[in-house]
Amino acid sequence: MQKTEKQSRASSIIEHRGIYYQAFNIYSGVSGFYNYGPIGLKIKRNIENIWRDIFVEQLGSLEIDTTTITPEIVLMASGHVATFTDPIAKCKKCGTSYRVDKMLEEFYETSNDKEALIELKKLNKEGMQKKIIENGLKCQKCGGELSNIEDFHLMFKFQIGQEKENVGYLRPETAQGIFVDFKDLSKIFGIKLPSAIAQIGKAYRNEISPRNQLVRVREFTQMETEIFFDPQAEQTTFNGVEIEPMLKLEVNFGPSDGEERLYSLKELLEKKYIPNRLFAMCIYLEFKMLEKLGISDKSLYVFRQINKEELPHYSKGNVDLEIRTIHGNLEVSGIAYRTDFDLSQHAKTSGKEISVMSNGKKLVPHVVEASIGLDRLLFSILDNSVQEGKERGWEWLKLTEQLAPYKYAVFPLQKDADLEKKAAEVLELLKGKGISAYMSSTGSIGKRYARSDEIGVPYAITCDYDTLNNNTVTIRSRDTTEQIRKDISNIV
Ligand code: GLY
Repeated sequence: MQKTEKQSRASSIIEHRGIYYQAFNIYSGVSGFYNYGPIGLKIKRNIENIWRDIFVEQLGSLEIDTTTITPEIVLMASGHVATFTDPIAKCKKCGTSYRVDKMLEEFYETSNDKEALIELKKLNKEGMQKKIIENGLKCQKCGGELSNIEDFHLMFKFQIGQEKENVGYLRPETAQGIFVDFKDLSKIFGIKLPSAIAQIGKAYRNEISPRNQLVRVREFTQMETEIFFDPQAEQTTFNGVEIEPMLKLEVNFGPSDGEERLYSLKELLEKKYIPNRLFAMCIYLEFKMLEKLGISDKSLYVFRQINKEELPHYSKGNVDLEIRTIHGNLEVSGIAYRTDFDLSQHAKTSGKEISVMSNGKKLVPHVVEASIGLDRLLFSILDNSVQEGKERGWEWLKLTEQLAPYKYAVFPLQKDADLEKKAAEVLELLKGKGISAYMSSTGSIGKRYARSDEIGVPYAITCDYDTLNNNTVTIRSRDTTEQIRKDISNIV
């Protein structure tokens, strides 16, 4: 596994347990691409399951799975072909490329210039060019002069089939698959507003300077939910669930022009920090997800209102969910009021009518989107879950039971055919009940406890010589290291 800098507080565990690692490592790797090993994949799937439970099952969304290859016309309609760029400058001497907004951001962060950081968000290409010159920023590798700033397109482009004109892109967001299919889905499923369609899958962005492991990558997984609604209708319920009680929830919120503190969702609506009740419902659902992920303490996250100048081309209002990490606040989700922008654009470009009936009138639905970046979320969880373990002598992950790669580890006390047979029976019993578990008999029992703690397994069951006599086992808690003795028939 490739050696990495301490890029996460959990770096050591991530590396030596292969939770995720540089892709194409034997060929020296390719920047911005990471693979998940078996343990990381289990944690990733558990996050997906938590998302699916909240955003699909509880919300009653239609979940779909659309292609990642997208014809150009779709992304012309959505505005991505014209606008999905980042500002780039190249070193005139060594050719190294820099994403200029990030370069300036790092420069002002290092000099702790808070005003400049706020101003930076409002700067266009010319404004950033001035700042590069004013501050004498040079190539970080060779000190060479930087070129003028240009727009760098973030989508991966290629030819579909034999014809050169048949241009395709890897999708930059899963959302477009939902918008393109809305017309057909609304016909097949008789969609009534408000209604949600969700999708999980890979998205791709040709980042200029990928960095910090999963923080900025070129291939990543999104979990997106698009909520379609009639902007004139009262938003009192969603799929039969009352929205009003959700508005009592208090979340840590940072207005674009105000103090970060706890606000109720009702207050956010009253102060017009968020545009509507379905937007509030998305914050509510994301907070419920944070609870299940074990990162809902107000010191660990903030919902941040985005300045007008920073809004994506399709949005009339955005709130990002940021999680505190070793790299500062990391954006893991964006909730956006996309209005009828996408559906209207696809209707215009395809020449097909896209509308539904609501309260006796035909309309193009408006959309609120909850878009979550799964890889960044996983990174943030690991970064916040790692425990120093000074007392026990090893670092370990404090993952919630729903997130842990296994709920139980099963150990024979030592290598002994009878103990191993008993442990195998316990493993079978757990698996028969659909509970995730693994068995290990290699190494001392202390080492095995350390290895199960490291990957966040909440409980370790040990079969010892008493087990052979009286059918009881010890159950050790990862969090306290305390053990209790239980009859095998009562372990779960
Ligand atoms: N769908 C929003 C985004 O990908 O940023």
